[in-house]
Amino acid sequence: MTTLITGGAGYIGSITTRAIRASGRAVVVLDTLENGHRKAVGDAPFVQADVADADAVRRTVEEHGVDEVVHFAAYKAVGESMANPGKYFANNVTGSQRLFETLRSCGVDRVVFSSTAAVYGTPARVPVRESDPTDCESVYAETKLMIEKTLGWYARTSTMRSVCLRYFNAAGASDDATLGEDWRFSENLVPHVMKAVLGHSPALKVFGNDYPTPDGTGVRDYIHVEDLASAHIAALDHLASGGASVTCNVGTGQGTSVLEIIAATERISGRKVPHQIVARRAGDVSEVWADSSLVRDLFGWEPRRHLDDIISSAYAWHSGRPGGHRG
Ligand code: WQD
Repeated sequence: MTTLITGGAGYIGSITTRAIRASGRAVVVLDTLENGHRKAVGDAPFVQADVADADAVRRTVEEHGVDEVVHFAAYKAVGESMANPGKYFANNVTGSQRLFETLRSCGVDRVVFSSTAAVYGTPARVPVRESDPTDCESVYAETKLMIEKTLGWYARTSTMRSVCLRYFNAAGASDDATLGEDWRFSENLVPHVMKAVLGHSPALKVFGNDYPTPDGTGVRDYIHVEDLASAHIAALDHLASGGASVTCNVGTGQGTSVLEIIAATERISGRKVPHQIVARRAGDVSEVWADSSLVRDLFGWEPRRHLDDIISSAYAWHSGRPGGHRG
């Protein structure tokens, strides 16, 4: 089996590519390198192209004998999506729809899709279940939901089957700290904490401590990126064994606050995280974490790493390179 991985030069994509290869599959990565890093692909077969380029995708499928796909390639900056919706609809939605049509015409009919818990918006309840209403609060989230729905129609009108994985908060670095997030392009908490603790930024801004949560700061479900990677392999195995299309939350089912992330970082690094409480960030919800019983029951998947593994791998990654990023 050869797995095509779109966006495999990115943070989650590169770590998942390595895990898929380690599971015994051949891979080929297709990425524009617009946001990804060529070095993150390592010695995996690589094609620099856009998923919307039908000829490049078809050539890649034929030359590498692709029979399944993990589709990561997308823009993912929530704020940018609100400032430039056209860029996000064109790249994320139209690009994905062109990819799926090319795959269908080539007879490739198994797709694992990188979706997001952001499709729930402000969740109706926590833990969040897949059956809970979606209520996108950003163009980014809407593009992910539109792609889920597109896959749903391909499942109804063709032999294509898919697993949509709704990620909660992906965090951490590869277990050997050789792959990780580039903090230059991330607005997420953990890279911002690492930048502050390593002295590469002024004090971390804690966006509000007046939420109705135990310590007043925002609570999220942080899942280690290596556990997220193994969920993709479980999804590929599900489809390869004839499993039906499904949409699953991928989270730990545990909530962790901003102050708890800071405390864990100080404990593990032995350094203080300079931080200041500022006003809430527009659009933030107070707490969200996953009901991940479906992915556990259906795929037999379990997260194996904990908060300290997230923090220690992120700290090892960011402190191990000049400027904290791949460069
Ligand atoms: C986490 C918590 C912030 C930064 C986003 C996207 C979502 C998904 C994951 C792609 C919140 C607080 C953060 C900082 C802070 N991305 N925070 N200071 O907002 O839960 O989800 O990333 O799928 O689509 O919306 O993640 O890491 O930005 O915030 O206090 O400098 O940390 O208020 O409580 P979020 P986050």
